[in-house]
Amino acid sequence: MFKIVKKQVLNPTVVLMEIDAPFIARKAEPGQFIMLRISESGERIPLTVADYDRDKGTVTIIYQLVGKTTRALSEMNEGDYLLDFVGPLGTASHLDGYKKVAVVGGGLGTAIAYPQAKKLHALGAEVHAITGFRNKDLIILEKEMEKVSNRLIVATDDGSNGNKGFVTNVLKQLIDEGNKYDLVIAIGPLVMMRAVSNLTKEYGIKTIISMNSIMVDGTGMCGGCRLTVGGETKFACVDGPDFDGHLIDFDEALRRQGMYKNQEKESGDRHAC
Ligand code: FES
Repeated sequence: MFKIVKKQVLNPTVVLMEIDAPFIARKAEPGQFIMLRISESGERIPLTVADYDRDKGTVTIIYQLVGKTTRALSEMNEGDYLLDFVGPLGTASHLDGYKKVAVVGGGLGTAIAYPQAKKLHALGAEVHAITGFRNKDLIILEKEMEKVSNRLIVATDDGSNGNKGFVTNVLKQLIDEGNKYDLVIAIGPLVMMRAVSNLTKEYGIKTIISMNSIMVDGTGMCGGCRLTVGGETKFACVDGPDFDGHLIDFDEALRRQGMYKNQEKESGDRHAC
């Protein structure tokens, strides 16, 4: 059993939890994920590691209330226990050797971009973080990102934080200002990662994106995270979740992501009843 040692509501639909899981905390690296199950009858869901504290033995997860399990999880509190918390799974991001990196987080993707920025910063890279949200009430991890980046730009679609724009526009502006990035990391909705990848392709900048959002069972069994990368079939949970953004077939991934929307909604509605 794995104790919830901290719960923090980051915005109306996003919750942070720190879980007491010393063995996972000892090994976890940015880019990896865990599988959790609340109870015997619950489904297993994959969630990307948002942070870890090797000394305290805790692993941080940040999730959006999108379906039955995440809603049930959000009803749990500090002191409650999860039945299963397994990991770290997936391939860790390769972050060594970069001098100047733009880390781009879209919405909840910021929670996954954060540990990447933190590690790059610790490795001595110059980190420019760009995060984007629909409006100012949805902004998460601003202070945390500030601490691990040399420059942080937070943009909102509606301009309610005083900085209207999309992350792709901000990134383009920074590149056009003369910033020479040797890597761009983009994590967020598929359409946003596609837009960033299209942009960086024009400039010839290596780009890593995370396909964690299409994972289902996280074990390589369900096939839900199948995608085409450079003409080859890959599985996000086994071969990723990080991939070269210039090689992903985003159109196919977008089609597949929408396949189970109705079932997910039905399940969520049942839980809400
Ligand atoms: Fe099921 Fe990858 S999430 S095969």
